[in-house]
Amino acid sequence: MNQEQARILLDKYLLEHPTRHRHSLETAILSSSLAQVYQVDFEKAIVAALLHDITKFMPYEEAKSLALSYYSLEDVMNRSKDTIHALSCVALLRKEYHVDDIEILGPIEQHTTGKASMTTLEKILFVADYAEPSRPFPNQLIRELAFVDLDKAVLESLLVTKQYLEKHHIAIESSSIQAISYYQKRLGGIQ
Ligand SMILES: [Fe+2]
Ligand SMILES: [Fe+2]
Repeated sequence: MNQEQARILLDKYLLEHPTRHRHSLETAILSSSLAQVYQVDFEKAIVAALLHDITKFMPYEEAKSLALSYYSLEDVMNRSKDTIHALSCVALLRKEYHVDDIEILGPIEQHTTGKASMTTLEKILFVADYAEPSRPFPNQLIRELAFVDLDKAVLESLLVTKQYLEKHHIAIESSSIQAISYYQKRLGGIQ
């Protein structure tokens, strides 16, 4: 899968959802810049970003059933309506489009929750998804931080998301809690 093919898929799945389509393009632009700064494969960073939300609007039951073709029942049942699309997207790409490159699928799989010990490509999509400029919340500081210290930007994104979830009484997923603990230790206990 190259970026031209990914762009065709993005249009196929999200052209009818202009806000999400633009978010995906902005995530790809920011991912590409970060990939060049951190010297990882920017083509893969772009492909993962263009594709990461293509199943965002799939009905929950359909997304769960699709995800079950590649993930365990426990993995799927632990996912909420807001985070199941990470797994259904990976399953769709594997099943329908024969994508098996873990450097593309890994970042997509973890982009909603994060996890401990992410690869650089995984961290880039995680932060770019949060910090791209079309998001309707203030994220400029995290966007700037991402170019200076990617781990700190990951942790800040996780902590702001945790605050939001707590404020709205939404349960935080266990891999996000593990990620917060991992990156706090790694960064010497900063908040
Ligand atoms: Fe997403
Ligand atoms: Fe996204």
